[in-house]
Amino acid sequence: MMPLRVIPWGTGAVGTEILATILDHRPDLEVVGVRVYSEAKNGTDAGTLVDRAPIGVTATTDTHEILALDADCVLYTPRIVDLDEVCAILASGKNLVTTAFLFHPDRQPAEVRRRLDEACREGRSTVHGGGLNPGNLSGVLPLALSGMSRTIDKITLQERADWSVYDSTAITFDNMSFGRPVDEISPTATDFLAFNSGIFSEEVWLLAEALHAGIDEVTASVEAVPAQQDHEIFDHILRAGTTAGQRWNWVGRRHGQPLIEIETLWTVGNEYPSHWPSPRHGWTLTIEGDPSMQAHFIALASFSRAASMAEHVNAANIATGMQVLNAVPAVCAAEPGFATMATLPLIRSAVGFGN
Ligand SMILES: NC(=O)c1ccc[n+]([C@@H]2O[C@H](COP(=O)([O-])OP(=O)(O)OC[C@H]3O[C@@H](n4cnc5c(N)ncnc54)[C@H](OP(=O)(O)O)[C@@H]3O)[C@@H](O)[C@H]2O)c1
Repeated sequence: MMPLRVIPWGTGAVGTEILATILDHRPDLEVVGVRVYSEAKNGTDAGTLVDRAPIGVTATTDTHEILALDADCVLYTPRIVDLDEVCAILASGKNLVTTAFLFHPDRQPAEVRRRLDEACREGRSTVHGGGLNPGNLSGVLPLALSGMSRTIDKITLQERADWSVYDSTAITFDNMSFGRPVDEISPTATDFLAFNSGIFSEEVWLLAEALHAGIDEVTASVEAVPAQQDHEIFDHILRAGTTAGQRWNWVGRRHGQPLIEIETLWTVGNEYPSHWPSPRHGWTLTIEGDPSMQAHFIALASFSRAASMAEHVNAANIATGMQVLNAVPAVCAAEPGFATMATLPLIRSAVGFGN
């Protein structure tokens, strides 16, 4: 079978894991282009970008150059999404998987949905958003566990994470507003916070619709907590008094009754507020119902060998990237339009033990 031709779009923490995995493990995929943002990477061979031998494909900052390529799928992992760009990719006949958004495109604002729909129809292409969370843990895993449920009363996913060791600091500080005054944090305070809040709301809707919850609203709220002292986070100083904790809650309700909730307990600087709930670090999924079930998830570089903190942190980037990379064949085979974690077949490791 001919390899599927793919284009990694963005080579940050997640994108480089995707690119390196394709080169190392996926003869069924062929890299035909790479889209980068930084001038320093422009013109660099794709292999060189991930410390592999050159492959004869040059990374480019030129969107038009990439759009003109013939390819089956774009792996879209930029820091900031651009809807015009995404629609152009889809309209050019390329499928698109992304870790950044579109976890439930049906729940996008009507105009966004219309544009995506039109682009997919024009290009006969499919779009899919996935990852770790949003993604597997708030979509695939609850749906998989629900296969053991007779009835469900409530689903809660809690994510507890300290971002101090996450080296995508542009996301931590620029996008997520850590280090900003606490009164500047709200679900609508900045375009990015609104965007980010929207993707978790989409996940709540996804579960609600897949599991017949009949909810009538999803609300978003956030409590921002100030740092007690200064913290040095890579090349940033997070000042005492500025935002060092964000507790977000996205709640889907039917007639006022909370049925599905995603809660994130995020800190930078590791000062954990004593009044917050204290689940274990990582992700805790609780399904109240018949039967009631609970699963705790954590991703590390290894449970058996010694690994550095950087390797452990990177485990989440690998997991995020693999969820969409492993989905590429299914997304390419899907009907044109929106493919979600509820509509795609179960995504499993393409390589598995075949290392
Ligand atoms: N769903 C999930 O579970 C999950 C988990 C983690 C991250 N994410 C999302 O996945 C995406 C990638 O995350 P990451 O950790 O890889 O981020 P990152 O390490 O900060 O990488 C950022 C990427 O954005 C690119 N970039 C630089 N300037 C940009 C601009 N002005 N506009 C758009 N992109 C720009 C960078 O370009 P270069 O290629 O030139 O370096 C790089 O590819 C983000 O959208 C993030 O929110 C999702």
